[in-house]
Amino acid sequence: MPSTDDAARDITEGVGATALGIAAARAAETVSDNPIIHDPFAQVFVDAAGMGMWTVTANPVLSAAFIAREPGLRAMVRALIDFTAVRTAFFDEFFSGAAQSGIRQIVILGAGLDARAWRLPWPDGTTVYELDQPTVLEFKSATLQQQGILPASHQVNVPTDLRADWPTALQEAGFDVSEPTAWSAEGLLHYLPAEAHDRLFQRVHALSSGNSWFAVNAPSKRRGTVAPGSPQTEPADLEHLWYAGDVTDWLHQNGWATSAVTLGDLLARYGRVIPDGDVMPTVFISARRLTAVDRSWVGQAQRPIR
Ligand SMILES: C[S@@+](CC[C@H](N)C(=O)[O-])C[C@H]1O[C@@H](n2cnc3c(N)ncnc32)[C@H](O)[C@@H]1O
Repeated sequence: MPSTDDAARDITEGVGATALGIAAARAAETVSDNPIIHDPFAQVFVDAAGMGMWTVTANPVLSAAFIAREPGLRAMVRALIDFTAVRTAFFDEFFSGAAQSGIRQIVILGAGLDARAWRLPWPDGTTVYELDQPTVLEFKSATLQQQGILPASHQVNVPTDLRADWPTALQEAGFDVSEPTAWSAEGLLHYLPAEAHDRLFQRVHALSSGNSWFAVNAPSKRRGTVAPGSPQTEPADLEHLWYAGDVTDWLHQNGWATSAVTLGDLLARYGRVIPDGDVMPTVFISARRLTAVDRSWVGQAQRPIR
């Protein structure tokens, strides 16, 4: 797992490069025969980053040539594209629902090369705050500006480290704690240490007025610890990471109503199949912070997903 790298000089280095891999998968899905998402800006990012594995993933011709030489990678490439496509669709639908409910303040945690502030049809008066490492946000803004691509919202970059005091940076950028907010943490938890998970949920909660929305994807299963000497593909403090059940439990205890869908169910919803669905075990959770009125009749009838 690439670690968050304070010294990364550009998007192709450190954990920022994971955003490029996801953009490449979105680009591939966008030009596929039966796309479930449309992200015309993903290819713009891939091109601007220069040659790399992302170039191959994004381009169906290069990808086919690569797979012809390495047939064992076919399933992996397909799984990455399908996973990214359904994940993107889930968060797109979440934001579209939040906007329809009247929310005009959006916060995207670990925004990476997600171009929602540019590509979704936001209602007038919507502000989208994007939090990520400075190198990632600088690359994204500069790339789109150079192409003359304008945001479809009032888009605000908040360059920050999500392990540090990001609420101050967010509020200094104009965030209004009294307004309902739609938050997302898409493809992010895996890259943060456990104590940053605790703080992330506590901070989202503290900054959310009633009727705020929150969507996050979280690992669905606890896995064994990494054997000594094996490649470090997982964070070291596995036991303390937040898994889907922890997230829904915590949200319920703190006055949020949740719904959750497994990756398998989400793939089925869009007619996609990842043969070994366990490759990327994850649950997609959406939540709404209840108001005092809601709490008086909803009670505690919700069941967390594990
Ligand atoms: C896998 S990418 C997902 C990006 C985006 N949410 C998407 O789905 O396209 C993970 C993102 O988290 C960001 N990230 C990871 N750790 C971070 C940290 N400590 N502070 C700020 N951003 C971080 C990375 O820079 C990267 O853009």
